[in-house]
Amino acid sequence: MVLEIPDVLSPAQLAQARALLDSAEWVDGRVTAGHQSSQVKDNLQIPEHHPAARQLGELILGALGANPLFLTGALPKHVFPPLFNRYAGGHSFGTHVDNAIRQIPGTPHRIRTDLSCTLFFSEPDEYDGGELVIEDTYGTKRVKLPAGHLVLYPATSLHHVTPVTRGARTCSFFWIQSMIRDGTQRALLFDLDFAIQSVAGSVPQHPGVVSLTGVYHNLLRQWAEL
Ligand code: NI
Repeated sequence: MVLEIPDVLSPAQLAQARALLDSAEWVDGRVTAGHQSSQVKDNLQIPEHHPAARQLGELILGALGANPLFLTGALPKHVFPPLFNRYAGGHSFGTHVDNAIRQIPGTPHRIRTDLSCTLFFSEPDEYDGGELVIEDTYGTKRVKLPAGHLVLYPATSLHHVTPVTRGARTCSFFWIQSMIRDGTQRALLFDLDFAIQSVAGSVPQHPGVVSLTGVYHNLLRQWAEL
């Protein structure tokens, strides 16, 4: 499931983020790449411990924690501290799969990357190219979203970023370990939750709403890892 989540950041948060990103230090993006992906990765990143990365990371995590669509789509257990990249002057990232396990920098903790996330800071008309191309179960999906919007996609998928031939594309990227490891189960829970909200919105007193809510929670109880 590829899920686009609009307006994760408010216009004020976005302006603050863009100012911080423009003042930050940018280094070769291969610093966080694995062996295969380092051969196809060509972009810039902010170093993980840079104060701007930490400050913006906290802003993003706070916004995600208050976003119902993110919470129901990802059912997050752990979220990796957000990283930041920039593509300009022909930069691209060839086809790769994200590392399955990632150590959280400066800690002994590791997370399993069930979902990958890209949050856009640049508007689509600020650059040419720079599409995130995801090979999903049901075909290839090309993603280029307005600033402040985010895409959530299975970390199991092959994906690439097409060359940026004009302007600059600045994004945050990070991973999520979900309470629901299996993508099919996660998608079922998402669809069920969506259907319950829809029925509850039209016929709030319908007894089926309580029954279906029970089914949702009992499936979550069956499948969740804490
Ligand atoms: Ni990737």
